[in-house]
Amino acid sequence: MHALTKTRRTIKRLSTQLANQIAAGEVVERPASVIKELLENSLDAGATQIDIDIQAGGTQSIRIRDNGSGIPQDELALALSPHATSKISSLDDLINVVSMGFRGEALASIASVSELILTSHHQDMAWSIKAKEGQFDLTPASHPRGTTVEVNNLFYNTPARRKFLKAERTEYRHIEDVVKRIALARFDVAFNFRHNQRQVFSLAAATSNENKLQRLTRLINKEFIQAAVQLNFENAGLKLSGWLATGEYSRSQSDMQYFFVNGRMIRDKVITHAVRQAFQDTLYPGRFPVYVLQLEMDAEQVDVNVHPTKHEVRFRQSRLIHDFLFYSLREALSQETGINSGEDIKHASTFNSKTYPASFNSGQINSTHKTFVSESNAAYSSSHYQNLARNNELSKPLGIAIAKLKNNYLLAQNQNGLLVIELAQSRKRLTQQQLDTALSEKNKLISKPVLIPFNLKIKINAQAWLDKANKKLQQLGFEFAVLGENEIMVRQVPAMLNATDNKECINNYVDSILNNGIDFKSALIEIIVNENFSNDPTDWNMLLRELENTGLDNIKHCYHQISDNDLSNWFTK
Ligand SMILES: Nc1ncnc2c1ncn2[C@@H]1O[C@H](COP(=O)(O)OP(=O)(O)OP(=O)(O)O)[C@@H](O)[C@H]1O
Ligand SMILES: [Mg+2]
Repeated sequence: MHALTKTRRTIKRLSTQLANQIAAGEVVERPASVIKELLENSLDAGATQIDIDIQAGGTQSIRIRDNGSGIPQDELALALSPHATSKISSLDDLINVVSMGFRGEALASIASVSELILTSHHQDMAWSIKAKEGQFDLTPASHPRGTTVEVNNLFYNTPARRKFLKAERTEYRHIEDVVKRIALARFDVAFNFRHNQRQVFSLAAATSNENKLQRLTRLINKEFIQAAVQLNFENAGLKLSGWLATGEYSRSQSDMQYFFVNGRMIRDKVITHAVRQAFQDTLYPGRFPVYVLQLEMDAEQVDVNVHPTKHEVRFRQSRLIHDFLFYSLREALSQETGINSGEDIKHASTFNSKTYPASFNSGQINSTHKTFVSESNAAYSSSHYQNLARNNELSKPLGIAIAKLKNNYLLAQNQNGLLVIELAQSRKRLTQQQLDTALSEKNKLISKPVLIPFNLKIKINAQAWLDKANKKLQQLGFEFAVLGENEIMVRQVPAMLNATDNKECINNYVDSILNNGIDFKSALIEIIVNENFSNDPTDWNMLLRELENTGLDNIKHCYHQISDNDLSNWFTK
């Protein structure tokens, strides 16, 4: 029996140090996360120059120096205390947060798992505070305007965490990635980056377009710049700017996609989907677009307080954002490639000569690069989007999805009338195809760990079954272990599984195989298809587009067209 259940322990308040260490588990995953937090603090302090100096992939030491506003002596200890921030003071501030930080937690968390020294200059005085094992030590120091944070021996007091650190090279790569992202988000700030006393890069603040292109060349590559269009769209309170490589330059992985929302690098389904859709006709399947894009909007339009590391956000108007992105990107791409474009556009092969489409407002064009500037705002009202969306999707064979009926059907509209699409058959077909493609490419499905591993009872001998079945299970992305004679533990499941209740779902899976004699792959398809289908119209339409891609002949039995004639015949006698 487990020790905790034998004798009850009394409830005690955690020490601040331990509470901070636990909180650190959320934000400080590895050296790169420390650097992200420190850089964001420097940016919030208005720094225009930031020097980053790290040793041994950041595991030995990290030093970030900025020329920002600094911290007064009497606030230094507070800066290292949990729930202490200068950035918000009320719920209203949180709704309108414009700084990168607001939780007042990063420094306290980092200080609890490292030896941290914070030195700062404020009003002609500089002080240094050292934190070790929850104790602070304040001494006078000398420091120019700004702040330096030194983080030594990260995770020295949390051996479990220290053990999870990867090789220096890997940690370094994560750091490089973070620094790159932030340098791509903030062209106005100069960055100096050194690893093991060697300079990695030194980037001057880039104000002119030429400087920006130099930074892009340094941080991404020349091919990108050669294939890139610069774009600048603004409408309905949304502003999209940046660079986008046309189909000429793409990648086999999504490693060069930089998307910032109000200066924050985020991962978001709505954005990924809009971008993917915009590129649908210009990229081969399996190729990934390359871009550096900034989306800006009022702070209150986006909730940044949904994830401890702030990698995710929630948009108040996600549909509007999706459509704005999709149409802006497609506009930029079609202008570039000449698709859908009535204009006769010549493209500059160098950055110095250029003919712009007449409809574009030349006031905002910077002539060093192919640039697309939005049409006047009026033309981009949301009804304009809706019309474009409708015309585009209506002309597709399976049209535009209008509703989900009883979780079994989609109702759609195309140019010929209405369509009913049966979900079970079509999802089965697509899942089958996705599985086959994934298996033929990699011979293995990607797996993901379950949040909390769980046990399942089975009727036959677990060891004997796994001996026989493990190879197939692993190929499909499952990781099971023997727990008892008739019990297995589930550790990993296929990444494409979206189940809300993994236990029930995997139980059904094992049951189908063992009791109903269904083969491993068909049983997997079954559990995937049995999951409730999304309620998000974006996903509905994605399904329709994917179905079209498989070829209409292959899915004849999955949908039914009701023509306008059929409809009117129903009602005329
Ligand atoms: N480089 C810096 N320059 C000036 N002030 C800083 C700097 N770093 C931290 N501070 C001050 O210390 C406070 C605490 O920083 P910390 O990163 O812990 O919290 P935060 O940035 O407010 O919120 P979050 O936990 O979301 O990052 C900040 O609110 C800010 O006032
Ligand atoms: Mg912070």
